[in-house]
Amino acid sequence: MRRIKFILESVKHPKWTGACCQSSKGLARKMAQKIENSKNVIEFGPGAGIITHEILNHLPEDGRLTCFEINPVFCKHLKTINDPRLTVINDDALNCRKYIDDYDCVVSGLPLTVFTKPQRENIIAISSRSKKYIQFQYTPFLQRKLKNHFTDVKLDFIPMNVPPAFIYVCSNSAE
Ligand SMILES: C[S@@+](CC[C@H](N)C(=O)[O-])C[C@H]1O[C@@H](n2cnc3c(N)ncnc32)[C@H](O)[C@@H]1O
Repeated sequence: MRRIKFILESVKHPKWTGACCQSSKGLARKMAQKIENSKNVIEFGPGAGIITHEILNHLPEDGRLTCFEINPVFCKHLKTINDPRLTVINDDALNCRKYIDDYDCVVSGLPLTVFTKPQRENIIAISSRSKKYIQFQYTPFLQRKLKNHFTDVKLDFIPMNVPPAFIYVCSNSAE
């Protein structure tokens, strides 16, 4: 059901969605495992929630997950997830600072390659305020840009996804 909803929305809003189908469970689980000990997590572009569910599985009981999704159809669906740790906000991820100031991890499925350069730079700058930024993309070409904002950038490849995807895990060492 979630998969069909995603395909329909990707046809209606190809530029927002930036993918023909939602991520595989394997990619979602890998992304979520990387939050490790984070407690106050933001998710950008949760779509129909495949990564959201995995983050909730890894989040401590006193953790918080705040999702920013631009598509109201996906938001309506995400709001049916019955978990007191989850807040769903129907707004552009670029506006997230209006709602939340304190976060230690950003998990993102935003299609950065279809964003304008200023939008992309802005998302990376917002994310670099957290200890950890986990972003998946379908290209490995974001690494150099991310190294301007983070002291450590690791790349993981997930072949079992349509299309195969790269996970960037970025962090800033404590000063
Ligand atoms: C590639 S899909 C990823 C969906 C889901 N996380 C997954 O892995 O299957 C990108 C998602 O980002 C959302 N999105 C695109 N631009 C956005 C923005 N500026 N702010 C918030 N969400 C956005 C789209 O509506 C879509 O749900």
